[in-house]
Amino acid sequence: MLSYQHAYHAGNLADLHKHALLAAALDYLTGKQKPLSYLETHAGRGLYHLRGAEARKTGEAEAGILRAEAESWLPAGHPLLRALAAVRAAHGPDAYPGSPLVAAHFLRPGDSAHLAELHPAEHTALTRNAPFATIHHQDGFAMAQAVCPPQPRRGMLLIDPSFEVKADYAALPRFVGQIARKWNVGVIALWYPVLTDARHRPMIGALQDAHPEALLSEVAFPPARAGHSMTGSGMFVLNPPWGLAEEAARLGAIFRDRA
Ligand SMILES: C[S@@+](CC[C@H](N)C(=O)[O-])C[C@H]1O[C@@H](n2cnc3c(N)ncnc32)[C@H](O)[C@@H]1O
Repeated sequence: MLSYQHAYHAGNLADLHKHALLAAALDYLTGKQKPLSYLETHAGRGLYHLRGAEARKTGEAEAGILRAEAESWLPAGHPLLRALAAVRAAHGPDAYPGSPLVAAHFLRPGDSAHLAELHPAEHTALTRNAPFATIHHQDGFAMAQAVCPPQPRRGMLLIDPSFEVKADYAALPRFVGQIARKWNVGVIALWYPVLTDARHRPMIGALQDAHPEALLSEVAFPPARAGHSMTGSGMFVLNPPWGLAEEAARLGAIFRDRA
């Protein structure tokens, strides 16, 4: 049973962190002429509306991207702001890009995209919102195992589970290791929630033991509601592209000073 729906959380501070790093990575990767592959295991619906009922119910976008824009957290011309402006121009002022549409802003005609989404309604919406990609209505981990190494071999995989299945925490280090062996040149990015009960720590410890050279970017922020257990956002990135460590450091300072 899939109960998580990203529409309630789109544009929150975790999305800001994840999407800023994703946009910066793809901006660099697509700055070179060679074609690339972009893969996502857990794509969501691709496009959200920040004044829709779901977003208004939680207020997370208001405390996230909308506050960050009002207070100019990101410098003008930041790759995420460019993707956001393009999505608003196409879909209206309340629109917010999920990771597939952040990626779409940077992908070029010769690039290849594979997106997996298991939830039937999210999958239907993703098919409508991401016509540039091959959409897989299947388990994202199985999709990545089947597609990797992709053609073209240059590229990036985003793993963004909802962590509804607690076993994901234990399974992810092995999954990342398998994909890294199959696709040793791929940029492999795993998003995870920073939780008060530190449930994510053993997973991150195992990943760092296996891949000590990887980039780890963690930011902290106040919980969305009193008692909410997510107090930060993390990205673990294998083979980070040039400049991503510096972008992670800049984001770390922004969240430290403002969140
Ligand atoms: C955190 S959301 C994705 C958000 C999206 N990556 C973004 O940043 O805009 C996770 C999504 O994974 C989907 N999902 C859950 N388990 C899945 C699985 N095993 N395979 C593929 N999709 C899954 C959920 O339906 C949900 O839409």
